[in-house]
Amino acid sequence: MNPLEDLLQSRPGEARQLLPLLQLIQAHYRYLPEEALRAVAEKLELPLSRVFAVATFYSALSLRPKGETVVKVCCGTACHLRGSETLIASLEKELGIKLGETTPDGSHTLESVNCLGACALAPVVMVGDETHGNVPAASARHLLGKVK
Ligand code: FES
Repeated sequence: MNPLEDLLQSRPGEARQLLPLLQLIQAHYRYLPEEALRAVAEKLELPLSRVFAVATFYSALSLRPKGETVVKVCCGTACHLRGSETLIASLEKELGIKLGETTPDGSHTLESVNCLGACALAPVVMVGDETHGNVPAASARHLLGKVK
């Protein structure tokens, strides 16, 4: 069995499994290949349009491959006021990509997110699963160095 078939077999063929299945596929491939969306629609007997709608609604799901490490800079009000834009510029320079892009080697994706719920620690950045608060713009290299 190929990995996609394994993932599909891991869940029952019920419509309520749509999001969990998409999350599993996202975690495995780091994005949702079109072939996978079609296979999910077939397995759950759902219209492809519904699968696509869910796949494009949640920011944690992506139709394009993401990097091994996703760097998420909070751009909520508190973080914006405390320099998130400068931090983004610093990370863009360090990674050699623009916000929303993935490095050519597939190591990093740089994204912005709304409030991460840790406003007292603004500006806040997530590097993979780790949350970092009070991040000065000048620490972009140090921040990335932890995961390189
Ligand atoms: S605004 Fe950034 S954590 Fe709330």
